[in-house]
Amino acid sequence: MVQEVERINRSVTQLLEFAKPVAVDKKEVEIREMISHSLKLMAHDLEKKSIAVHTDIQSVRSTCYTDPDRMNQILLNLYMNSLAAMAEGGRLTVTVKDLGPEQDLEIQVTDDGCGMDEQVLSEIFDPYFTTRPDGTGLGLSIVHRLVETLGGDIRVESGKGQGTTFLSGCSLRQRKIPMRHKILVVEDDPAHARMLKTLISDWGYEVMLADDGDTGVEQVNPGG
Ligand SMILES: Nc1ncnc2c1ncn2[C@@H]1O[C@H](COP(=O)(O)OP(=O)(O)OP(=O)(O)O)[C@@H](O)[C@H]1O
Ligand SMILES: [Mg+2]
Repeated sequence: MVQEVERINRSVTQLLEFAKPVAVDKKEVEIREMISHSLKLMAHDLEKKSIAVHTDIQSVRSTCYTDPDRMNQILLNLYMNSLAAMAEGGRLTVTVKDLGPEQDLEIQVTDDGCGMDEQVLSEIFDPYFTTRPDGTGLGLSIVHRLVETLGGDIRVESGKGQGTTFLSGCSLRQRKIPMRHKILVVEDDPAHARMLKTLISDWGYEVMLADDGDTGVEQVNPGG
């Protein structure tokens, strides 16, 4: 009975959420903090099902510019779906990657659950589409809407019996930079150079790369 009431409550809340415009309040957010906070909220349910949780934060950024509550809502919906899809003892992985300099972050939520066939995959973002007896089918519609409101996109890789990964490219950087200044980075290690370019372009600068001083001078002052 309590469960039933919870179910109805949840369904009504989600329904309201779906109909009303999404308010967004972006700020500087610690990426690790955001991921660990979201996982903490799920810890009890994940432990109950003995799900092993892995986080793999590959981004060179420590912060991103987003709405932490909306991101949390997105992540929780994805975790809940994964939880429902996995058997006892499954594995949930959250990965955060840089898509490249001046590009967005990508957050991936991967599970080794039941996966989806082509037919299901083609409908998952439709409102009210569900394969679960207790599902409302609004979870992913809300996720889709929130991701778009935050300026990102979401896609999915899955196959029946092969687990599922949701990949969300989120436009997470601060875009309120009034002026574009150029900064020259002289660095001969390509990996370091790429990392510096990513970080410095996040601060709003245009970045020129050179692997030695002479090339750098030539870049700043061509022919001179
Ligand atoms: N990680 C996943 N693994 C397998 N199937 C999934 C996964 N995520 C979503 N699905 C499929 O997509 C359907 C729609 O998901 P959605 O979150 O929109 O609704 P729901 O989870 O069924 O209901 P609700 O989110 O309201 O509890 C699910 O019913 C399920 O069939
Ligand atoms: Mg759901």
